Amino acid sequence: MENISVLEAKYEAQKIAFGPIAFQAVNSLIKIGALDLIHQSRKGISDEDISKKTGISIYGIKVLLDLARFMKVVLLENNKNKISKIGYFLIKDKLTTINFNFVNDVCYEGAFYLEDSIREEKPIGLHKAFGQWDTIYEALSELPENIRKSWFDFDHYYSDTSFDSALKIVFKNNPKKIMDIGGNTGKWSLKCTSHNNDVEMTIVDLPGQISTAKKNILNKTGADRISFYPQNLLSDEISLPGEHDIIWMSQFLDCFSEKEIIKILKAVKTAMSANTKVMIMETFVDCQKYPAAEFSLHNTSLYFTFIANGNSRMYPLSSFSKLIEKAGLVISKTHDEVGVSHTILECSLP
Ligand SMILES: C[S@@+](CC[C@H](N)C(=O)[O-])C[C@H]1O[C@@H](n2cnc3c(N)ncnc32)[C@H](O)[C@@H]1O
Repeated sequence: MENISVLEAKYEAQKIAFGPIAFQAVNSLIKIGALDLIHQSRKGISDEDISKKTGISIYGIKVLLDLARFMKVVLLENNKNKISKIGYFLIKDKLTTINFNFVNDVCYEGAFYLEDSIREEKPIGLHKAFGQWDTIYEALSELPENIRKSWFDFDHYYSDTSFDSALKIVFKNNPKKIMDIGGNTGKWSLKCTSHNNDVEMTIVDLPGQISTAKKNILNKTGADRISFYPQNLLSDEISLPGEHDIIWMSQFLDCFSEKEIIKILKAVKTAMSANTKVMIMETFVDCQKYPAAEFSLHNTSLYFTFIANGNSRMYPLSSFSKLIEKAGLVISKTHDEVGVSHTILECSLP
């Protein structure tokens, strides 16, 4: 039975109905600098002083703050505004600000076309907001700088916070050659070459990303041990280089549909020898400890629908493990709680 009263349910429903407006109210308060001002004034600051300091009309400040105060983003004491714990997270917590900017810059406009994207199984939001690319990945190197920044900040934040723990797992058996599929800007490959003086890395990614990665690794430690293999893993003929001890895929397979994942893993299998380990690092919705993480991942799934590609998602491990099985690989080990919310699956040939 539902443990919620009718009144509470009605209020929760209104939060959803007006959610986009509440989001933009907070966004405006951040952009005009009001939330920062409130945070900086330890004794609190009046609406009039915020209006003077931001150059925004008293009407504008009051209409925004009325909602922010109701949502407890801001607290009012003796007619002075003070930042609340929620408000503090919205402007000072790195995870929250990265999620917030990602939603505003990358997702907001496209989200309006979610229903169309679901019906057509295409990222209609991407087409309407940014242009006629098949997927966001082909668009990445050409998007306006502020949008690229919000996308990369979001993408990197989650993997970056896991890379240190992941290094210990990946280098346990001293691999000599690692293939980094979906290597993006080369961050993980550089991390590996600075961690170990001998390891050789091969980055596989779309041609546009490979040129970004080449620029990014220039003159960095171990860049001479990184080679590149431009490849569209959705093409009919996938070829991957052999002789790697580890085939690493971080936040990569969630960019594809179930059918595509099986096809890619089958291609990966052809590049494996008996001792090759496939290591898959993902944020699985059913492996999360905190409701905030699970909520974020369900929302991220929908970003994949209307912006990224129209057919992928953040998968639950319960269904993802079946795809690995269907591709003819076995999960030999599961490492949970890597970084903020990742799991690493070690897979081998049967
Ligand atoms: C979400 S990012 C993950 C980047 C990085 N591995 C990390 O953990 O931060 C996915 C990467 O997969 C690449 N990718 C997406 N579709 C691809 C395709 N069809 N073929 C090759 N690479 C692809 C993207 O260009 C991007 O670099």
